[in-house]
Amino acid sequence: MRLIRTLFFAVTGMLTPAMATAETLPVIQNVNAYECLSLNGEWNYIVDVQEEGYYDYRMKPTPWGFFRNAKPQKPEDLIEYDFDKSPTMQIPSDWNTKDERLFFYEGTVWFKKSFQAVPMQDYRTLLYFGAVNYDCRVWVNGQEAGHHVGGFTPFNFDVSDLLKEGENTVIVKVDNKRHAEDVPTQIFDWWNYGGITRDVKLVKVTPVYLEDYSLQLEKVKGGKGGKMREISFSARLNKAEAGHEVTIFIPELKIDKTFTTDAEGKIQSSILNVQSKKLTLWSPENPKLYQVQIILDNMTIADEIGFRTIETRDKQILLNGQPIFLKGISIHDEKANGGGRANSTEDAHQLLSWAKELGCNFVRLAHYPHNEYMVREAERMGILVWSEIPVYWTIAWTNPATYQNAQQQLTDMISRDHNRANVIIWSIANETPHSTERDNFLGRLAQYARSLDSTRLISMAMEVTGASNYLNRLNDNMNQYVDVVSFNQYIGWYRDVNDAPKMTWEIPYNKPVIISEFGGGARYGYHGDKNQRWTEEFQENLYRENCAMLDKIEGLSGTTPWILKDFRSPRRVLPGVQDYYNRKGLFSDKGEKKKAFYVLKQWYETK
Ligand code: GCU
Repeated sequence: MRLIRTLFFAVTGMLTPAMATAETLPVIQNVNAYECLSLNGEWNYIVDVQEEGYYDYRMKPTPWGFFRNAKPQKPEDLIEYDFDKSPTMQIPSDWNTKDERLFFYEGTVWFKKSFQAVPMQDYRTLLYFGAVNYDCRVWVNGQEAGHHVGGFTPFNFDVSDLLKEGENTVIVKVDNKRHAEDVPTQIFDWWNYGGITRDVKLVKVTPVYLEDYSLQLEKVKGGKGGKMREISFSARLNKAEAGHEVTIFIPELKIDKTFTTDAEGKIQSSILNVQSKKLTLWSPENPKLYQVQIILDNMTIADEIGFRTIETRDKQILLNGQPIFLKGISIHDEKANGGGRANSTEDAHQLLSWAKELGCNFVRLAHYPHNEYMVREAERMGILVWSEIPVYWTIAWTNPATYQNAQQQLTDMISRDHNRANVIIWSIANETPHSTERDNFLGRLAQYARSLDSTRLISMAMEVTGASNYLNRLNDNMNQYVDVVSFNQYIGWYRDVNDAPKMTWEIPYNKPVIISEFGGGARYGYHGDKNQRWTEEFQENLYRENCAMLDKIEGLSGTTPWILKDFRSPRRVLPGVQDYYNRKGLFSDKGEKKKAFYVLKQWYETK
C-alpha cells in the first residue's frame, strides 16, 4: 500500500499558469524546528543523458518537458516517458552509489515525488532542500518553482500558490556536469556525487515568520571576566513589518524578554544580561547547549544553543578567553563503508567517533559545507568545526557569475550554521593559485564573510609547495584578510621525502598558524619498508617526521591532517592500491586503523 503523505496547504487564489513561478527566498533558519512534511523516501527517476526532457531537438527549452509529468489521454497520444513506470531511488542519496549504472555518471537525472495536500488557512508552504548537487530545477504540479546552483547548501521556495488539494507532484531536474565557471570548477579530488543528497521537506510557516535569528555571547570587554555577561540577540522576519513581538525564552538562564521588530522587520543586536556564574560556556570538554525558545506571534521556534567566545591574540587562538590547540582532522562528507554522501546523524556520529578516537577536539569539514547533521552532532559531541566553501584550486576569478555563486554559497553556509557554538572558522578557499585576480576575488569574499559574521575567525587553506635549502616560507597576500594563517604542506609525500627533520619554517605573520593539510597515502594491510610507498610503515614514518617538524613551528595552534578515512576520488586510479580511492586516510574506508593513526593519537596526547 503506497504511503499517502498529506500536507495541509495554504488556500490562495486558483492557479493560473502564467503567474505561478515561486521565488528563491533566503534560507529559513533552523528548519527542523518547524512542522514539516518530509518528502524523503522513494522517488521515481529517469536518467536523461541528452536532456531530452528539457530541450527540443534544436536545443531550445521545450514547454513539453518531463516536468509536465504528462500521461497519454487518448490511445494515439505520444508520450515517451513515464515516471510511474520508472525505477525508484531512496532520497536523500547520491545516484552514484544507488544505481551501479550511474557510478561514474555525470549528467541529468529527473526525480518525481507525489504527495497529498489539503487546504489550510493562514499558513504558507516552503519547499526546502538540504542540498542538491549541482544544478537543480524544480517544478510543482508542472509549474516551475525555482532554480538553484551549488551542491552543498540549502535552499527553499515558497510553493503555496502552486499546491492543490489532493495529489500533488514535485519534479526535480538535477545536473551534476562540471564547468569551468562553476564552484567548484571542473577538477576536484573528490567524487562528484550527483542527486538530491540531503533532506527534502515541505515546511509550514505563518505568512510572517522568523527568516533568521542569532544568539551570540559577546566577548568580555577588556579581557577581564565581569560579573555579568552579555548575549546579543538579533532577528529578521521574512517581511519588513514593524510591531511584531518576538520573545526570547531561555528557562535555565531565567531569560524571558520580549522585543518588537522595527520598520525593516528586524530586531538589531539587543542585549540579554546573564550572571557569569550562572552561565556554563560551551567547550569540547563540556559542550553545554541551552534549550531556547523564540516566540513570534503564536509560533514557537525551539533550538539548542551553546555560548562561547572565539578570538585570536597574536599567535594564539582563544576559546572562552583561554588558549587552545586545535587537535584536528580533515573529513569529507562521505559515508564510511563504500562511500556515498553522508546525510544522517548516524553517518555523522560514526565519522566523528573515529575523530574522537584520534583524540580530536576539532574537524576541518572539507572542502564544502557538510550536511547539517554533521555540524549539529559535532556540537553535541564537543567537536569544534572549520567550515568551508568549495572555492577550490583554479576557479574563474574574473567571471562575475562565479563570484556571485561563491558569495551565495558563503551566505548560505553562514546563515545555516551561524548559531552553532562549535563552528569557529569560516574558510573561503583551498589551494588557490596566486594572482591579482585571485587576490581581488578572495579579498572581497573575506570581507563579505566578516560583514555577515564578525564573531568568528576567517581563514582559507593556503599552500607551501616548496623549500629552498630546507627553508619553507609562507608568503601569501591573503594573510591580511584572514584571522588564522592556514596552509597545506605535503613534505614526505609530494616533495622532500624523509627531509622533514631538516626543514625550517618562516611564517612572517603575527597570527595563529593551522596546518590545514599534511599526510600521505597507504593501502590498509600493505606492509613493508618505511621507504616503500603505499605501505602503512611509509605513512607511519611520514607522520612521525611531520609531527616532530610541526612542533618546531612558532605559533602552531592546530592541525587538520589529510584525512580521517580513505575517500572516493576519480583522480586516484592506481590499480590494486587506489582503485578510485584517495588512500591518505588514517582509517581505511571500512574503519580499519592504519599504523599512522597511533602516531597522530600519541602526538595529540602531548598537546
Ligand atoms: C590537496 C587537496 C585535497 C586533496 C589532497 C591530496 O591538498 O586540498 O583535496 O585530496 O591534496 O592530494 O590528497
